[in-house]
Amino acid sequence: MTKTAYLTIDGTTYELPLIHGVENDAAVDISGLREVSGHITYDPGFGNTGSCESAITFVSGEKGQLRYRGYPIEQLAEKSTFIETAMLLIFGELPTREERNKFRDMLSEQELLHEGLKHHFDGFPSKGHPMAILSAVINSLGCYHPDLLEIENDEEFVKAASKIISKVRTIAAFSYRKSLGMPFMYPDPKLSYCRNFLHMMFSIPYKAFEPTDEAVKALSQFLILHADHEQNCSCSTVRMVGSSQANLFASVSAGICALWGRLHGGANAAVIEMLRGIRDGEYSVKDVVEKVKRKEMLLMGFGHRIYKGFDPRAKILKESAHKLLVNTGHDDELLDIALELSETALADEYFIERRLYPNVDFYSGLILRALGIPLNMFPVMFAIGRMPGWIAHWWEDRQNPELRLHRPRQVYVGPTERDYVPLDER
Ligand code: CMC
Repeated sequence: MTKTAYLTIDGTTYELPLIHGVENDAAVDISGLREVSGHITYDPGFGNTGSCESAITFVSGEKGQLRYRGYPIEQLAEKSTFIETAMLLIFGELPTREERNKFRDMLSEQELLHEGLKHHFDGFPSKGHPMAILSAVINSLGCYHPDLLEIENDEEFVKAASKIISKVRTIAAFSYRKSLGMPFMYPDPKLSYCRNFLHMMFSIPYKAFEPTDEAVKALSQFLILHADHEQNCSCSTVRMVGSSQANLFASVSAGICALWGRLHGGANAAVIEMLRGIRDGEYSVKDVVEKVKRKEMLLMGFGHRIYKGFDPRAKILKESAHKLLVNTGHDDELLDIALELSETALADEYFIERRLYPNVDFYSGLILRALGIPLNMFPVMFAIGRMPGWIAHWWEDRQNPELRLHRPRQVYVGPTERDYVPLDER
């Protein structure tokens, strides 16, 4: 195994150590380069930059593989539950029955919101976006738990993690109810994590919402598939914020903001908007593909920074969207449009050359629609799913005694030094 790389700049050769992962991945360690050579590396978008060593999630873009703590996503999606998967990501191993039950009890104990925190919802306009509300309320949660702002041991970490995982679902459902002007439905500790969320979203006083087992399974699978994806934009944001020693509530709140954008967690809603445009006759499948090729728009739900073969999550979601829609009699015409659009794109030279395939967001919106989740809640659903991943990464950094403040460099291209010009001379 090669241990050293050599870089020659202006005739001087520098030796740079190589770091090897466990899956044939290797990196040139340039952390000492500036000190010895005065040079930094330049990598806009960080497509070639490893920011950390991590033992949480493995992704192979070439082979279309995704594993949480070594377990293939296909197995977890089929056999696991969201809470078990969350525990795997956060604590490193699948829990025993006893551990899982204990954690479930902790989640049930934490599921209510402090009355003071509930009043925050009154301050938001009814049309306020639920992602803004989610991020603000999760950050505010820290004010109600000052003892958990400085986490010093495993026990405090488990407390904080369980609070966030439990309450994120309550906050998400409350923000939806607020937007409709409907009364909040309190969580029911007898229900499982996913069933409880659907209850808080859709039950009304004296009329409990009773989702089918298929719907609950589809939601659990959706959350599992979104639970982590190594150093993506929102995860890197959480680690970046956490590197300043910011608390867990503030760090994951920043992750929610990063997730909101259309290129990241906002893509699933953008896909549905695009499919609706086709259904409503604003443009055809062919028009969309032609517009994309003229670079007038992006094909939302296609392409990925890492996956250049296929996204294994999209493969699973395509099947489960089909199953859910057929089994529950939700005849969603958008599924047929999605299938036609993806077939047309996959056969087109533009997409073949650039190795663009459907990503996790291409089919996930169809599942959320079938569950009755409104469009503006789509990124919120992604955030509920991604929460265990963010928490696991934040904790991994916290436990690293060599962690340094994340602080990238730049290549400065602005004005060189000049003298101040008084106001009346400008
Ligand atoms: N539609 C049309 N062209 C695309 C697309 C797309 N969705 N994605 C990439 N390309 C083109 C891009 O224009 C470029 O073309 P050219 O070589 O002619 O300049 C080429 O493919 C390479 O793309 P890139 O911009 O270098 O790729 P990237 O790694 O920077 O972008 C991406 C990754 C996900 C931001 C991008 O594919 C995209 O914007 N997709 C649509 C939004 C989307 O679905 N996002 C969800 C991503 S998966 C969930 C998540 O992680 O949040």
